[in-house]
Amino acid sequence: MAVDVFVSEEKIQKRVVELAEQINRDYAGKELMIVGILNGAFMFCADLIRHIKVPVQLEFMSASSYGDGTESSGNVKINMDVKKEMTGKHVLLIEDIVDTGLTLSSLMHLLEKRNPASLKLCSLLYKPARIKHQVKIDYLAFEIEDHFVIGYGLDYAGAYRELPYIGIYKND
Ligand code: IMP
Repeated sequence: MAVDVFVSEEKIQKRVVELAEQINRDYAGKELMIVGILNGAFMFCADLIRHIKVPVQLEFMSASSYGDGTESSGNVKINMDVKKEMTGKHVLLIEDIVDTGLTLSSLMHLLEKRNPASLKLCSLLYKPARIKHQVKIDYLAFEIEDHFVIGYGLDYAGAYRELPYIGIYKND
């Protein structure tokens, strides 16, 4: 098995700073509830939050999609929920990758019902070739082609999350 570096550590860190600056401008004067989606977004979330200048309340949640994927809502299982109330808060979800969009479109529908003051999405990666459920990504680090990627939080069968770069997994 081989891993090709797809997005280098330097490129990721540069983009993380750019996104954080954009978020700082957009939320100036406000308080932010950042919700990292586990497990994949842990590293992206940890790097991003270090550059956020507005007051932050940090939460995590874990969700998995199920079913045949033909419905854009209602088929998401919350494995771990946020502990704090979202009502009236400016909530920013941090995700690793929007692939088919099923998980995030379902999750956004569900969280809207908790009446946050605003609900936005920040994703490390987006694969437009695979999208089936449209999701509005407010902050995106990288749009990528249809590769299975690992590293920087993303896994293959639970492994490779620790890599500081995004790689392409090759079975050879
Ligand atoms: P979606 O519901 O199809 O958008 O799936 C999103 C989830 O699938 C992500 O949060 C990842 O956990 C996983 N996933 C999708 N594509 C990849 C990939 O290329 N590498 C690693 N995990 C992926």
